[in-house]
Amino acid sequence: MSDINLFEEFLEWRNGKIVEELVGKAPARYEFTQPAAVAPAVIHSAKFQEWAATAKPTSVYRVLVTPDAQLPYEDKEACNAVEQYAADNRFDEWVDLGDFLDLDFLSRHNKGKARLNAGKMLKEHYAYGREVLDRRLDCLRKNNRRAAMTLIEGNHDYRVEALLDEQPEFEGMIEVAEGLGLAERKIQWIRSWRDGTIYKIGKAAFTHGLYTSTYHARKMVENYCCNIFYGHVHDVQQFSKVMHGHDEVVVGQAMGCLCRLDQAYIKQNPKNWQLAFGDFFFRPDGMFTYYIPRIFDGQFTAPSGKTYKGRVK
Ligand SMILES: [Fe+2]
Repeated sequence: MSDINLFEEFLEWRNGKIVEELVGKAPARYEFTQPAAVAPAVIHSAKFQEWAATAKPTSVYRVLVTPDAQLPYEDKEACNAVEQYAADNRFDEWVDLGDFLDLDFLSRHNKGKARLNAGKMLKEHYAYGREVLDRRLDCLRKNNRRAAMTLIEGNHDYRVEALLDEQPEFEGMIEVAEGLGLAERKIQWIRSWRDGTIYKIGKAAFTHGLYTSTYHARKMVENYCCNIFYGHVHDVQQFSKVMHGHDEVVVGQAMGCLCRLDQAYIKQNPKNWQLAFGDFFFRPDGMFTYYIPRIFDGQFTAPSGKTYKGRVK
């Protein structure tokens, strides 16, 4: 066979292949991997539901709510005053709104700035966090051994996950839930920042927070369309949403913070931060009322009229 014939034979074969590829085979199928399982939008307090099922109409389910402590940069006097309050009263549940840890050395703002991170070790921040949790649990369970504790994930806590996105080889070794020993302390962990999950007790929803605009309380309640309580922005702000009907009004409520007001990153710039926490009283039907004591100079006066002053050892 001549070279020309061989070449023509090759062309015929190649054209056939091209036609086969274009029309003769089933079209390629796309296979995309789902990045992560979709978590529930709402997680209800199982303890509240269990209580509400048998509670008398006049009974109360009491919840202590603490906003951003940003350990180890918390306001120690304010936190101590709140712990005294926890030990002095009977609560059924303690909900922390997140940014429990600061983890500034994992922040993208600190990336590449070794001087800002000097001496800061994740294991020490976890050890300190466990110490604070144990102290809180002691206060909480002093008057109610069966009281529950719930920790909501904030954007600061999530910094560990952001690190794992960059360095997945450490997955399973450095996560917040394990670092703080939440499972062995029977503390419920709500992945509010990762999943957008909100935690609900009766007719009140708790989340870390989302919007930081001037009128964030309005935006929160307009978008979530329920009573929504959150930290994140460190100020105390409320907005009541217009609703149809009687007794149907819902609020967006920022709960302040428990971190020091002189955080390094805020410098001496103006701010509207407020040390505060929440005391919630729920009825079995889910309706509730709440108080937000504001803390000044490490002290506040409770609705009972008693003043609590924080002590720093
Ligand atoms: Fe936050």
